[in-house]
Amino acid sequence: MAASKETDGLDSKFYKTADAFFPAYSNIGLTFDDVTLATLYSEVLPRETQLDVHLADGLHLNIPIISSDMDTVTESRMAIAMALSGGLGLIHYNMPERDQLSEVSRVKNHVHGLIQDPIKTAPDQLIGDVLNLIEKKHFAFSTFPVVDAHGKLIGLLPGHVVKVRYAKRKVVEALTPRTQVQTINKKDLGRDPIAKADKFFTDHPGIHKLLVVDDQDRLHGLFTMSDVERITQERNAQFKPARDADFRLLCGAAVSATRNAFGELDRERILQHVGGLVERGMDVVAVSTAHGHSKGVGDTVRMLRDAFPKLPIIAGNVTSAAGVEYLADCGANTIKVGQGPGSICTTRIVAGVGIPQLTALYVTSRTALKKRVKVVADGGITKSGDIVKSLTLSDAVICGGLFAGCPEAPGEVMEFSGKRYKQYRGMGSLAAMKAGSAARYGHSNDSNRKVAPEGVEALKEVTGSVDRVLAQLIGGIQSGMGYLGAANLAQLREKARYIRVSPAGQREAAPHDVVELKAGTGG
Ligand code: XMP
Repeated sequence: MAASKETDGLDSKFYKTADAFFPAYSNIGLTFDDVTLATLYSEVLPRETQLDVHLADGLHLNIPIISSDMDTVTESRMAIAMALSGGLGLIHYNMPERDQLSEVSRVKNHVHGLIQDPIKTAPDQLIGDVLNLIEKKHFAFSTFPVVDAHGKLIGLLPGHVVKVRYAKRKVVEALTPRTQVQTINKKDLGRDPIAKADKFFTDHPGIHKLLVVDDQDRLHGLFTMSDVERITQERNAQFKPARDADFRLLCGAAVSATRNAFGELDRERILQHVGGLVERGMDVVAVSTAHGHSKGVGDTVRMLRDAFPKLPIIAGNVTSAAGVEYLADCGANTIKVGQGPGSICTTRIVAGVGIPQLTALYVTSRTALKKRVKVVADGGITKSGDIVKSLTLSDAVICGGLFAGCPEAPGEVMEFSGKRYKQYRGMGSLAAMKAGSAARYGHSNDSNRKVAPEGVEALKEVTGSVDRVLAQLIGGIQSGMGYLGAANLAQLREKARYIRVSPAGQREAAPHDVVELKAGTGG
């Protein structure tokens, strides 16, 4: 509904567009809590908002959220969970190159609902051994495929014979023989294996397991009816998995501007490794360093652009217009913005550099528009409201700390004083740099040399799974869009109106003058 001239004039005097607001604060660095967004007339229901974003050809996400390329955040499990929810995971590079190749393969070969490496038993094992295994590993299931030494399927050990009374019997005496086990050939799974399995279970009442084999009858996976039913229900969810043209989950991987023993860019090694990642189906490479507006990063991006003309390239990190222009001219499609906002970062303390994130996003986003590249906001996001504010200036966000406590993040759960935690460390922390990420911060991996860490080693309290964390974040983003009358992310950028918040206004924004019983993020 159009506002009258009078109210419109009053609103626009206080609640300014990005181009009116940020230049008026050119003498101060602003971040998320320094500003708030004004509400606007809306006909948009939050649940109807569209959150998809096109970052480059072949890189279309259904939600604008990416998990950080950090060694305590993103390996294949996290990348699979992110892509299944419509986002993207960037596999970190603090591991041997061959391991990073395998991690990418795991994501690209993941068939949701298909247990690709099921726990198997051997025919001459005792049922007692199987019972011990279940107890030791806390398995919640008791049906196991039985294979010979070559991986060939011999039968299925059904749960109802895995009992103490049969402990002394061999698996071969109790299994359901191969001829009675239902299987499907791997090559018949087609583009939609879940739909295939779903139809199979409907057509075969009483059968709850379907095994996948190859032409030599070697076992390649297992479908269970309960998994398939859950996934079929989830398919009605609003945000579909992020997939490539071959229906495989999207996956990104990070590389650094690696140098050889002479301190020169190790062109051959970088090209060979990225070639391997591309062969395995990687959809986007991220040239990830702390200082993206530098010769090493520019040369790496230029070299990759020449060698792989169609490969989407994310590069960073920068916080200046010149940095965006440089990386865009070198051939990057998407620029990572953020220097020092991260929850584990100490760059601003140690090096005295970095820009508060909203100011950095405003400056970089204006050049990105001119250069026709995308911007992703990297670091400092602690709540869904920060994402809404980021998305008024950027195309997507990268989060580390928000996902580090999820079961899908690498690392063990630790318990202190009755609370459960997972490790979360900066890639510029001493431990992470020793494990390989020193190049990201312009240092050598030589552990004998003293380097100044730019990140801390920390703990995050264990949270729910990635899809639960994302459900909260997405709910918040959609609420924000509803308040602004924005049906999609382009409208959110266009409609956003900002105002600076005073310290008292910041206090007012969080729960106050109450005893909180349950932590909440709504308002
Ligand atoms: P959040 O706030 O999501 O930030 O935990 C994650 C982002 O922080 C960056 N990062 C670092 N920055 N020193 C830094 O200055 C570090 O040790 C470090 N490790 C990660 C990175 O951009 C990540 O996505």
